[in-house]
Amino acid sequence: MLNRNMGEKEIQILAIESSCDETAAAVVKNGREVLSNVISSQIALHTLYGGVVPEIASRKHIEKINQVIEEALEEAGTTLQQIDAIAVTYGPGLVGALLVGVSAAKALSFATGKPLVGVHHIEGHISANFIENKELEPPFVCLVVSGGHSHLVVVKDYGEYEIIGRTRDDAAGEAFDKVARAIGLGYPGGPKIDKLSKEGNPEAIHFPRAKVEENMYDFSFSGLKSAVLNYLNSCEMKGETVNTADVAASFQKAVIDVLVEHSLHAVKEYGLDKFAIAGGVASNSSLREAFEKECQSKGIKFYYPSPILCTDNAAMIGTAGYYEYLKGTRHGFDLNAVPNLKLGER
Ligand code: KG4
Ligand code: ZN
Repeated sequence: MLNRNMGEKEIQILAIESSCDETAAAVVKNGREVLSNVISSQIALHTLYGGVVPEIASRKHIEKINQVIEEALEEAGTTLQQIDAIAVTYGPGLVGALLVGVSAAKALSFATGKPLVGVHHIEGHISANFIENKELEPPFVCLVVSGGHSHLVVVKDYGEYEIIGRTRDDAAGEAFDKVARAIGLGYPGGPKIDKLSKEGNPEAIHFPRAKVEENMYDFSFSGLKSAVLNYLNSCEMKGETVNTADVAASFQKAVIDVLVEHSLHAVKEYGLDKFAIAGGVASNSSLREAFEKECQSKGIKFYYPSPILCTDNAAMIGTAGYYEYLKGTRHGFDLNAVPNLKLGER
């Protein structure tokens, strides 16, 4: 494990996350102990519009940010004076949303003189695995699947990543959300498809499993989404009733098959024996079961965070921020929101 070059001193990180529709703050001790994890979700608000409205997200973040930070400090039983550093997500994400967290973190850093550590949102999602799995250490392969990302990453060391696969079109969560909307389930679709699938037959309809010629680890979900839409249209034209549970289960199975195949192939090819999942879609119950089963049969140790740590939260940013802090990462007051920040970029 990365050595804490600071003797036995405890390191407390105040972390802030506001990249999309969650205003969140947390206090994390020594990287893996969550003292508080406060999340103010805007989901109910955006549900009215069928998806995240960026302008509304920014405004809500401004309303909530100070309150969420205060709550996180209070719940942790600590104060700004006792905090060692302030970590904040500065990308990728919605620029207006990110700016709220970044500005709050810069203001706190300026006022207290505590160091500022900018964190990559995906690095946060990956690091969520360190919180409940104290023994987990790099190297391992991590599949990050959320509303905005589908990345297959080799975590070589703390803060050292190689992205070996990514989606060419829709993110996995985006595909769940779009298919859910098409079968009338509403937003956010992932959890609803997860639930409805339990009543359906995953073998009822064969939807395509896309392969990307140029890179065996890349994903493509737009063809699958179109196949579902075509299936729904053709049922309508023929006057057939659609069994939405079968559609949900068959679609979900098609996504999972591809994710499992690509991920476990990567673990083998890179000579590793540990695999982790992260991001909102990583809460999917069938996805977890499929990985659990396949990893067990292949002798791979499988790691996954609790659902509350899969969704956007600040505890994961605190953990990633801690390892960045130990490595000496410090940002100045010129830190800006970077909506398309690349993983591993400083
Ligand atoms: O990580 P996250 O909270 O936010 C982003 O960074 O995007 O991920 C949200 C995504 C949404 O697309 C949501 O539908 C999906 O994760 N999701 C799920 C489940 N829970 C959330 N997808 C499938 N099954 C679930 N149980
Ligand atoms: Zn996320």
